[in-house]
Amino acid sequence: MDRNIQRMARFFADSPCKLRPHFKAHKTPEIARRQLAAGSVTGLTCATVSEAEVGVTLTNDILIANEIIGPAKCDRVAALARGRSITIAADSIAGLEQMGAAATRAGVTVGILVDVNVGQNRCGVAPGEEALTLARRVAATGGLRLRGVMGYEGHLQPVFDRGEREARARQAMEALVRTAHLLEEHGLPCDTVSAGGTGTHDITGRVAGVTEVQAGSYVLMDADYARLELPFEQALFVLGTVVSRPVPERCVADCGHKATTKDHGNPCVDGVEGASVVSLNDEHATIALPPGAAIAIGDRIRLRPSHIDPTMNLHDVVYALDGDRVIDTWPVAARGYPEQRSL
Ligand SMILES: Cc1ncc(COP(=O)(O)O)c(C=O)c1O
Repeated sequence: MDRNIQRMARFFADSPCKLRPHFKAHKTPEIARRQLAAGSVTGLTCATVSEAEVGVTLTNDILIANEIIGPAKCDRVAALARGRSITIAADSIAGLEQMGAAATRAGVTVGILVDVNVGQNRCGVAPGEEALTLARRVAATGGLRLRGVMGYEGHLQPVFDRGEREARARQAMEALVRTAHLLEEHGLPCDTVSAGGTGTHDITGRVAGVTEVQAGSYVLMDADYARLELPFEQALFVLGTVVSRPVPERCVADCGHKATTKDHGNPCVDGVEGASVVSLNDEHATIALPPGAAIAIGDRIRLRPSHIDPTMNLHDVVYALDGDRVIDTWPVAARGYPEQRSL
């Protein structure tokens, strides 16, 4: 993990574009502290208000790269903005009005990035005129300050072929940077152009005009990202115990999908040549074993999660290792869904 942090910091060290590590990947203050200390960062990216509430204990510059809707959540964001730089993404007039009203009530200013759809087809307005129209609305809404644009090319992160990933990410970023220029041509401030993730950090991060990259997974990596040739190492493992070996070619460990998620496929087995997870149930990982595998009931088995973000969200703590030695226990302090309290 420390090597991943250093490698990413070095990549952005001499670049006008900086890193804004995504806190949602791990929700763990001790990891974020190390990311911030490594330098080349603008602040933290968060996905939820509750992450931001923990994030402000680590930095005064937070981007919630997400739409924030509902007066209760908007009030919580406004409360965080007192004396800090808090920015959210927005793609609707309704969202701007709600955030503007909350900021005005609290007597603070909340930053806005106009969320631009660069092809992921999740949130975001269309690049160009539609983004300009919303940006004008930001500028005209009390309590808000236009900081720029955001365009997350999430659909391109897992594209296996490097050439294709590069060509499509450049095209997506062209639309985003063109939109930023359009805003500036109309006298609107656009200091921030925020985009990117682990799979495109070294493409998006070198496009002229992009000012920050929101990569998250690079810090711990997962089996899904391991398919791509990225300069980061797997650093998160789920440790289970073999509870059954009913036949020689199969064992079962006590780490099912309540311990490691399967939304990006089954996890991989680490350190047992030829072994693979064939299914995950709530509390069971069923593992196919190669002939003669020396695995006995009671043995520990390490899985490499296929997707770190939701896996981290399942655990109260992580154990920090130096080699095989546990050197610390870190709370996953921003896990869960505490924002539901304000629904
Ligand atoms: C808006 C946004 N930005 C950045 C990221 C970070 O991506 P990654 O974990 O692939 O680095 C995500 C991840 O889903 C995201 O939703």
